[in-house]
Amino acid sequence: MRHDLVIRGGTVMDGTGSPGCRADVAVDSGRITEVGALDEASGEQEIDARGLVVAPGFIDVHTHDDRALLDGDMAAKASQGVTTVVAGNCGISLAPFRPDGRPPPPMDLLGGESDYRFPTFASYLEALDSRRPVVNGLFLVGHQTLRVQHVEDLGRPANYAEIAAMRAGVEQAMQAGAVGFSTGLFYPPSRAAPTDEVVALTEAAAPYGGLYATHMRDEGAFLEESVEESLEIGRRAGVAVVLSHHKASGAAHHGKTARSLPIVEAAAAGQQVSLDVYPYAMSSTVLLPDRLADSERVLITWSDPHPEAAGRDLSDIAAEHGVTDEEMALRLLPAGAIYFAMSEEDVQRVLRFPRAMIGSDGIPHDPRPHPRLWGTFPRVLGHYSRELGLMPLEEAVRRMTGLPADRFGLDGRGVVAPGAAADLCLFDPETVIDRASFENPMAPADGIRMVLVDGEAVWADGAPTGARPGRALRRERPIPAR
Ligand code: ZN
Ligand code: CU
Repeated sequence: MRHDLVIRGGTVMDGTGSPGCRADVAVDSGRITEVGALDEASGEQEIDARGLVVAPGFIDVHTHDDRALLDGDMAAKASQGVTTVVAGNCGISLAPFRPDGRPPPPMDLLGGESDYRFPTFASYLEALDSRRPVVNGLFLVGHQTLRVQHVEDLGRPANYAEIAAMRAGVEQAMQAGAVGFSTGLFYPPSRAAPTDEVVALTEAAAPYGGLYATHMRDEGAFLEESVEESLEIGRRAGVAVVLSHHKASGAAHHGKTARSLPIVEAAAAGQQVSLDVYPYAMSSTVLLPDRLADSERVLITWSDPHPEAAGRDLSDIAAEHGVTDEEMALRLLPAGAIYFAMSEEDVQRVLRFPRAMIGSDGIPHDPRPHPRLWGTFPRVLGHYSRELGLMPLEEAVRRMTGLPADRFGLDGRGVVAPGAAADLCLFDPETVIDRASFENPMAPADGIRMVLVDGEAVWADGAPTGARPGRALRRERPIPAR
């Protein structure tokens, strides 16, 4: 039997969590056709995978890659073994939005006025169809994106007409193929939205079998209440829930994930709920001067009026100027920051949680990004699984492949099995490790040998190949709410 490609002699970890086993993998026309001992077969192309793990390509369930997919080389993700990203998180989606002037924070994480150029969700997906991305994308439509254009006064709940306009936006996105609706209730444009407003909008995604992904209202003092609110929204709207970047933020709240995770586990008996996590004890977003108190240290990632501040501590800059941190933060705006506000114990507790998927939450356009952008997946595999033994390697792989594919309804991805898309990551289990650090935040990981999307290499020998075999994926099936 002659195949397009045969990957020989690797240890296949198939994405289900079952023990890795030695097998060859055959690929034809972008799909996996056989897995097993393929001594009789030959390939147009053959890859020697002895000593390597052959895993499904990783699914990064929490990204802000909406724009990077369009015009970027996606090296930050391909270099980690990621073959599919979920974009439109935290209530921020690139479409549908054509702002008049600079988009307000945190919308500016994705770009400026000229980057928000898609009047409809469908036109954004079509742009991705014509300029193929490097890796696959799956998309949420964001509450903040809709709110900043339809709600006249962002400091109050939306009125009836505004809710109707936002509902129409959610419906159009779902018809175009969005996988669900996301919120960032923590952020100024959405803080005034009461639970009822969010339920009304999430309901618009329900008939399509969409899901609800949320950067919750509060991840510190009201962590448990915020989890309860998210679960309530899922129940009332009748959709599955994904809690974004689960954490306990602020020294006074360390340890609280010991209480929030049991709430999630108990709820899972009656409704579909999962969460994502990134493997770092520091968060990153826009600079929010009224949110400095929770952090031991604030590192600036970018500043429009003071570009030289990128990579420096806010306190050092404030001391130089002889002003308070708050005053300095106001002077740096618009800006981005990294917040040292979590405990390692909470991070590990969330990582161990069996319903936790891995999501980088990387911010691709920051000049000095949080290292999670380049390091998340290899850090889970190398540091947390191999070095600390937090979970077996097969389980770490499942949390980045089979589990997210199931939760986001991607039936033909996230597994190594005949019929599945040939989205694959070949990595060295002995050496895989993140290299991105705060000093050198854009360093590719070690040990990721080859990454294929639909059978085509996008990352090989430590560099992008230049191929763009990715697709704008449309929601494939309804996602069960329970
Ligand atoms: Zn977020
Ligand atoms: Cu996010």
